[in-house]
Amino acid sequence: MSEEKGYGLLKGKKGIIFGALDDRSIAWRVALACKREGADFVLSNAPIALRLGELNALSEETDAPIFPCDVSKDEDVEKLMTQTKEALGSVDFILHAIGMSPNIRKKKEYNDLNYAWLNQTLDISAISLHRVLNHAEKAEILNDGGSVVALTFIGAQRIFSKYSDMNDAKALLESIARNYGSRLAKRGIRVNTVSQAPTKTSAGTGIKGFDGMYTFADMIAPLGNPSADECADYCVTLFSDLTRKVTMQNLYHDGGFVTCGISEAMIEGLNSLYGDKEE
Ligand SMILES: NC(=O)c1ccc[n+]([C@@H]2O[C@H](COP(=O)([O-])OP(=O)(O)OC[C@H]3O[C@@H](n4cnc5c(N)ncnc54)[C@H](O)[C@@H]3O)[C@@H](O)[C@H]2O)c1
Repeated sequence: MSEEKGYGLLKGKKGIIFGALDDRSIAWRVALACKREGADFVLSNAPIALRLGELNALSEETDAPIFPCDVSKDEDVEKLMTQTKEALGSVDFILHAIGMSPNIRKKKEYNDLNYAWLNQTLDISAISLHRVLNHAEKAEILNDGGSVVALTFIGAQRIFSKYSDMNDAKALLESIARNYGSRLAKRGIRVNTVSQAPTKTSAGTGIKGFDGMYTFADMIAPLGNPSADECADYCVTLFSDLTRKVTMQNLYHDGGFVTCGISEAMIEGLNSLYGDKEE
């Protein structure tokens, strides 16, 4: 959606948005879209990420307090729930937009993983969704009929070699979303993952070979790669009351990539390499 007016889809709703680092972050774009649609929320990120200070601009623009939280630490998540309760009372939605792999950062190949780092990858990128929902339940902060969205990548289903142990983390994340979704459904709470196409963010471009993955996806997807703003609009619909019976799903937001084998443009390009025999 290009105009700033919005539809009022989240009027009166409150939430927690994890993972906004800079203005390219998907979570940053989600925060702007949620504000446009009338929501109030708190912003959270790891203390080390907050040191950069960039989040202050988003906080001012959206009138949202910032609460530091390393999602791999129980005490941090517990404290965040208390602070959020003080600030907002209770919440209707949670965005989990968190991913980090020390193995990828430190260029460890998949068949030579550092297992301590693998544990960190899984803890920060996947188990954190469990931890957040666990503490949200204990704090009785998540309203009946609420909605939880975690961002994921198709590496959970298909092999993207450069995505390394993040492929495994995303598979675990999606499983946790389904399992928690089945337990929260009795309260009308939805838990879904949105599988976003490669997007030019700090986490995305940190992956070796990202440009090739981005271009490949864009060439295959009939609608082309979606932007972070388009992902944000999709998340808004999932937080809204218009999707009350959608839960435990992995929802592809990828311009049709997942369903396509090859594009016409790629067939033509490859055929021209080998000399097209067609008249
Ligand atoms: N960019 C892509 O191509 C792409 C595609 C599909 C899915 N995703 C997913 O989208 C989500 C958001 O990533 P992004 O692309 O906007 O990149 P990003 O780098 O802007 O966001 C990742 C966030 O995770 C936070 N984080 C890392 N460790 C943390 C910790 N211990 N505690 C709390 N927060 C921590 C970072 O500070 C950062 O804000 C991630 O789950 C990512 O895997 C990204």
